[in-house]
Amino acid sequence: MKVTESIWYVGVNDHEVDLFEGQYKVPEGMAYNSYVIRDEKTAVIDTVDAAFGQQWLINVEDALQGCVPDYLIIQHMEPDHSACIPLFLKKFPGVQIVATAQALKMMDQFFSMDPAVTRIPMSNGGELDLGVHKLQFVSAPMVHWPEVMMTYETQEKVLFSADGFGKFGALDAKAEGCGKLGGADASADHSGKPDGAEEMAGDSEKSGAANQADWVQEARRYYIGIVGKYGPQVQAVLKKAAALDIRVIAPLHGPVLKENLGYYIGFYDKWSSYTPEEEGVTVAYASAYGHTKEAALYLAERLRERGTAVAMYDLARDDMTEAVADAFRYSKLVLACNTYNAGINPFMRDFVERLMERSYQKRKVGLIENGSWAPMAAKVLRGLLEKGKDLTFAENVVTLMSAMKPESQERLNALAEELAE
Ligand SMILES: Cc1cc2nc3c(=O)[nH]c(=O)nc-3n(C[C@H](O)[C@H](O)[C@H](O)COP(=O)(O)O)c2cc1C
Ligand SMILES: [Fe+2]
Ligand SMILES: [Fe+2]
Repeated sequence: MKVTESIWYVGVNDHEVDLFEGQYKVPEGMAYNSYVIRDEKTAVIDTVDAAFGQQWLINVEDALQGCVPDYLIIQHMEPDHSACIPLFLKKFPGVQIVATAQALKMMDQFFSMDPAVTRIPMSNGGELDLGVHKLQFVSAPMVHWPEVMMTYETQEKVLFSADGFGKFGALDAKAEGCGKLGGADASADHSGKPDGAEEMAGDSEKSGAANQADWVQEARRYYIGIVGKYGPQVQAVLKKAAALDIRVIAPLHGPVLKENLGYYIGFYDKWSSYTPEEEGVTVAYASAYGHTKEAALYLAERLRERGTAVAMYDLARDDMTEAVADAFRYSKLVLACNTYNAGINPFMRDFVERLMERSYQKRKVGLIENGSWAPMAAKVLRGLLEKGKDLTFAENVVTLMSAMKPESQERLNALAEELAE
């Protein structure tokens, strides 16, 4: 597959993976991208996951058309991209490896590298001349590992962006709208779209806009889940990238982006600055016997009646990584939780810890608690969230003493009113 006249896509699609990075469900599979640039000198950019080495080598050789590669550029040492370095060196023993000094060190940690292999350490601003194509390296520390660099090709103006601008999903996945991950109960709500918003059309005749919208859902879950903790580092790389004339973004996962790049960069700017994408409320609940859930559903209805977009999650049953992504998508969050052994429901604790690990901030939070003798959930949640920068709490805290009562409805109405303002 050609990216440009002299740049080939040689990646692979993984439909076997059950959990990406051992934790993310990927119902549409995963793509591990790799590229070949052919010029006077030939460079291969990154490798793929260990399970796909042979298939990748076939793709690489197809693109090489008999050329012997001069350079193997390693942008990121996470094994989904680096696992096939030894295989490649066996096939092409004369190749020189180009990577940051820290990546070269990690290479020796992961593999028994032959000391005779030539290594070219690269730092920010370093260059490599392939002939017509000239590469400039842009260090991207902690996006999301310390050794990461991106590669800018100056002739065709391609930014090879490592994991940046990546998404979950194989490139040959059958498009079925936005891959839904949640439990049956709440799935209808997961789009988080206001009533009447269009569902994506399936398959072939997708407009560019539909493809872009498709990209967002799984790119957001990928970004927030995997890179979300490192917003300031991503902001720093976006500043470096702003100085480059970029026509194509070639990431290590997901599609090569060729049009309307401002659309994708805009999302990265929002996500990495922790700015809500949209006005709306993510309602996340945890409930043993259903009373707290009833309150959460009641609140969601009152919000929808007021025209507010709502995304609803049962934290014990729906996909936690999608719930986390939607919490960052919207401007407001409601946590509805039963008190559990004088603390909070363990799924709720997990959820809030995931948010705080990713510097959850700049949002308004509403609390609904339940307890049959000494409700504690609101207090505990407040304690967990209090370090969040620019997090404000809704004035109306709703406490159920076991079950919904007429006065609970009044309190929930008031909370809905406050959040819909
Ligand atoms: C294992 C367990 C531990 C609980 N611990 C407390 C507690 O420490 N304090 C309290 O007020 N209620 C406690 N409760 C009661 C719940 O908070 C809540 O009132 C009850 O589960 C009803 O809400 P639900 O239908 O949403 O589950 C506990 C319930 C369970 C199942
Ligand atoms: Fe990675
Ligand atoms: Fe990756």
